[in-house]
Amino acid sequence: MIEALDLWFSYGDRDVLKGVNFRAKKGEVTVLMGRNGAGKTTLLLHLNGLLKPKKGKLIVEGKKIRYTKSDLKWLRRKVAFVFQNPDDQIIAPGVYQEVAFGPVNLRMGNVEEIVKNSLKAVGLEGYENRLCSTLSGGEKKRLAIASALAMNPDYIVMDEPTAGVDAEGFNSTVEIVEKLKEEKGVIVSTHDLDFARAVGDKFVFMDGGKIVYEGDSIDYELARKCGIRTFFSGELVVVSHDGTIPDGDFDFIAAMGVKAKKRVEKEGINLDIASATLERSILRALEGHSVLLVCSAEMLHVVKREVSKFPVNVKFLASLESYEEKAIEVKDGSKNSLL
Ligand SMILES: Nc1ncnc2c1ncn2[C@@H]1O[C@H](COP(=O)(O)OP(=O)(O)OP(=O)(O)O)[C@@H](O)[C@H]1O
Ligand SMILES: [Mg+2]
Repeated sequence: MIEALDLWFSYGDRDVLKGVNFRAKKGEVTVLMGRNGAGKTTLLLHLNGLLKPKKGKLIVEGKKIRYTKSDLKWLRRKVAFVFQNPDDQIIAPGVYQEVAFGPVNLRMGNVEEIVKNSLKAVGLEGYENRLCSTLSGGEKKRLAIASALAMNPDYIVMDEPTAGVDAEGFNSTVEIVEKLKEEKGVIVSTHDLDFARAVGDKFVFMDGGKIVYEGDSIDYELARKCGIRTFFSGELVVVSHDGTIPDGDFDFIAAMGVKAKKRVEKEGINLDIASATLERSILRALEGHSVLLVCSAEMLHVVKREVSKFPVNVKFLASLESYEEKAIEVKDGSKNSLL
């Protein structure tokens, strides 16, 4: 396991990491997300000792890193780093030399075989004799991964591996990461929600130099608050049955709960969605429609909980807090009867 404990770091006098606690395990893909400047790259650079924290500890496989020459050598063997921009990483003129650089330095045997296998793992077999400068951007990104793999690390850290890659490159990066996690721990930072969803086992959000979320799934509502780009989608406007129903050009109108249904009936509003209301409202919004959901007040918290699981834009016109007391009365497990 890689553990960063109460990590602080500043560039000059500006704190960029402010007490970060971060964990990543073998056999898992840990996805780091957050707005530009949140501190993701800075945190990742700590994980293999490219940056030294001002305060806090880095513990890898139970060993506390002391930042001595020998510790850093050990750490960089354990944890490989793949830069966002491959030009920051690629140092050799030729592909073979580039991938062989690490294994030769580490005096690993059978370098030719290692280079061949590493290139194969990223779909660049037969590229040995190419000049690095003649590779496309996507190919360079895969070459950078091959160079990291060649050192056979236990963990591989990748900063935005899918930035600037096409659909094929995306699929191949997903495949590479999926394969890697069978034996290693993978830590990626990304703004690519498709990628995060495709590979992520653990999701960590950073904001303002702090970890603000850690979980097994993406909390989309929080994601948006943290400036994480979610899909372009329509909008779900939720209003309480006793609130003011907005005038708007909605594609679909739905009502959830008896009180809400009574309210729309009273207003003479025709419903477009009459059953499986919440699911279908979310689905329509995901498809890009604008949806108005009139909801019985005591169900608002259920709506809030469920919509946070989907990448859908939601606007609550009623204050949820004012319904919190009522919400407490609705116990878990009553969800189905409510919906
Ligand atoms: N070498 C540096 N010198 C001074 N400030 C830096 C340096 N590197 C990063 N910063 C600043 O530290 C903050 C965090 O940067 P970092 O690169 O870690 O963010 P990030 O979350 O990776 O952002 P992005 O999503 O844009 O890659 C930013 O405000 C950035 O300007
Ligand atoms: Mg970054």
